[in-house]
Amino acid sequence: MTDYQNILDSIYKELLTREDKGEVANYIPELAKVDKTKLGIYLNNIHGKNYSVGDAKIKFSIQSISKVFTLAMAFANQGNKLWSRVDVEPSGNPFNYLALLEQEEGIPRNPLINSGAIVVADCLLSTYENPKAELLNFVRNLANDDSIDFNPQVAASEMKTGFTNFAIANLLKSFGNLENPVEDVLDFYFHQCSLEMTCEQLSNAFFPFANKGVCMQNNDCLTATQAKRINAIMLTCGFYDEAGEFAFEVGLPGKSGVGGGIVALLPDNFIITTWSPGLNEKGNSYLGMLALEKFTTATKASIF
Ligand code: DON
Repeated sequence: MTDYQNILDSIYKELLTREDKGEVANYIPELAKVDKTKLGIYLNNIHGKNYSVGDAKIKFSIQSISKVFTLAMAFANQGNKLWSRVDVEPSGNPFNYLALLEQEEGIPRNPLINSGAIVVADCLLSTYENPKAELLNFVRNLANDDSIDFNPQVAASEMKTGFTNFAIANLLKSFGNLENPVEDVLDFYFHQCSLEMTCEQLSNAFFPFANKGVCMQNNDCLTATQAKRINAIMLTCGFYDEAGEFAFEVGLPGKSGVGGGIVALLPDNFIITTWSPGLNEKGNSYLGMLALEKFTTATKASIF
């Protein structure tokens, strides 16, 4: 039997000694304050076992990882209609790239880059009376944890400085691919990005993606087909212009955020979440990626 705890302990010990920890995201002023020496890893499997090391129970800003939750909600209520407003192709470009959106006439390449997630946010605004409360309920239910919440300071910080996201939303609006006012859609989008969760809570919330749609509490949260399709999008688009590199190094579907979190999973097996706030030049956690590469190499647990 694989000794997961021992493997996580030795990866943790080795990574703690690394001088280079990447750089904390500083384009969102509130995130620039985070201590980059933090490092946590949490692993849970679909049979209820879990393993943890370091700062796995400290909350951090999940940022783009939230795009998976909003996608799951929009896909569940719109079905395949969703794909007429957002595509499912990898972009090969940074998460906030603008030019392709103009070239492709306001149809984002996929729901995990900013433009695609902003369209998904717009769908949720059109569907729900109170989309922020619906999102909180959805995530709290997935993780079986009511303590999960937004961080209003982080959301306000992005509302003030998120000029590229305003440009993206305005371009979407000009192409007729936003139904609601730009300010309202971005207010929701910045709130979803400001969700704070621990590695443990994220691993729990991603349980249905590793378990054919069935949550930890044994409820059907997604259909098996939805889980399959969202895993495919995570594999091909979850790391922006580093999706190929992540598949090559780690070999699992997953999603990163500029708060330094990464969630990855092996279908029918486990979910693993890492947090280290220092990022590489593509905006993905530097030590998080290294940790996951070492983990799948040591355990030989990958989809390939
Ligand atoms: O919209 C933004 O730029 C941030 N709120 C989220 C970006 C992000 O997490 C990209 N991930 N690697």
